[in-house]
Amino acid sequence: MAGAKHILVINGPNLNLLGSRETEFYGKDTLEAINARLAKRAGEGGARLATYQSNSEAELVERIQQARREGVDFILINPAAYTHTSVAMRDALAAVGIPFVEVHLSNVFARESFRRESYFTDIAVGIISGLGASGYELALEFALQYSGKR
Ligand code: DQA
Repeated sequence: MAGAKHILVINGPNLNLLGSRETEFYGKDTLEAINARLAKRAGEGGARLATYQSNSEAELVERIQQARREGVDFILINPAAYTHTSVAMRDALAAVGIPFVEVHLSNVFARESFRRESYFTDIAVGIISGLGASGYELALEFALQYSGKR
C-alpha cells in the first residue's frame, strides 16, 4: 500500500467538548476545526477522510466494525477515557485488522497513573501523546505515507 487512501478518524467520549473542556490539557481547538484541517490535508494528499465521534462504547465498536466493510485502510483513533477501560474497542480493532495510530492530545504519561494504562498501544502501529491537536495532523501525515501491512 503506497499511502492510505481511505482514512477514518475516531474520537471517543467527551471529545465533542473540545474547545471548552479542560483547555489546559486539551487546548482551545474545537473537534470541528481539527476535523476540517484533517479533511483538507487528506484531500491534498489524495485520500478520503471520514470522521466520527461518539460518547458511547457500543457505537464506537459498531463504527470500527463498519470500517472494514467500507474498505477503510487506516484509522486515527483517540479512544479518550475508553483508552484505559475498553477491551471491547481493542477487540474490535484487532478483529478488523486495520492499522491504526493512537492519538492523545495530552501527555497521558505525565498525568494520573491510571492514564498510563492503554488497551490499545500494543496493537497500534504507534502512539502520539502530548502534542495537542497537531498530534492528529502528524498521525495523518504518517498515514498518508504508510506502506506497511500488519
Ligand atoms: C485523552 C486522554 C484520556 O486519558 C482522557 O480520558 C481523554 C482524552 C487525550 O486526548 O489526552 O478524554 O485521550
